[in-house]
Amino acid sequence: MCEPTFFDVSYSINPWMDPSRPTSTERGLTQWKTLHDLLVDLGHTVELVEPVAGLPDMVYSANGATVVDGRALVARFRHEQRADESATYLEWFRIRGWDFRQAEYVNEGEGDFLYAGDVLLAGTGFRSEPKAHGEVQEFFGKPVLGLTLVDERYYHLDTALAVLDENEIMYNPGAFSPQSRALLAEQFPDAILADAYDAEVFGLNAVSDGLHVIIPQQAERLPGQLRERGFVPVGIDMTELLKGGGGAKCCVLELRAPLAIPHSPKRETENA
Ligand code: ARG
Repeated sequence: MCEPTFFDVSYSINPWMDPSRPTSTERGLTQWKTLHDLLVDLGHTVELVEPVAGLPDMVYSANGATVVDGRALVARFRHEQRADESATYLEWFRIRGWDFRQAEYVNEGEGDFLYAGDVLLAGTGFRSEPKAHGEVQEFFGKPVLGLTLVDERYYHLDTALAVLDENEIMYNPGAFSPQSRALLAEQFPDAILADAYDAEVFGLNAVSDGLHVIIPQQAERLPGQLRERGFVPVGIDMTELLKGGGGAKCCVLELRAPLAIPHSPKRETENA
């Protein structure tokens, strides 16, 4: 995670960003801290990357890289406003001795590449380019399922789809092309589908540890849909950071250790 010390909306690279609307760095910090402390309370280890002045979008650390089996593919950003963030991530992984390199093609890390039980779901349409999908497949040696985003409000895959555990996802069908929608329906017939309202409050920009699912407290139907399947929804307010076009998931980059076997705590329904 990256503390939003320099959070601001000083440019616009997605439809949520309106530089003429006032933003409060302090409110952003408070919301970020709540998310940070919640993750720690849930038993997770949180590593920090140093914020850099002049890079107000650094708080959305999910975009910094994709990390699977202890290997990191560092982002190559589409917009010049964010391009310099990559250097910080490259340095972070270098100092700690990780196996890493920067992506050759435009690739916005976990914003567009979501790991779902040994397949990588890969978004394109607005940010990461289709060629990045092939690069990710080669780099990690895992199959990639390419998905095309068509609604500019949902410009990154993680604004339209969340991986809940090794087998389950939730998504907003309206954010995808008809072909991608058909692909998702075929691969994940039991997925939770979000309605337009929950999608708009960024309900799909959720952080799941396989049991707890951190979602915006504004989401209306998703908490019930999650509970029905044995997940534990935890509501959070990320409205200040949403002014930059990001929610809880955008603020968290998952560091998957070398050859980690995907594991989720046993869920209530399975114990019953
Ligand atoms: N302002 C940032 C951008 O447009 C927000 C990034 C949100 N991050 C995410 N993982 N969706 O690039």
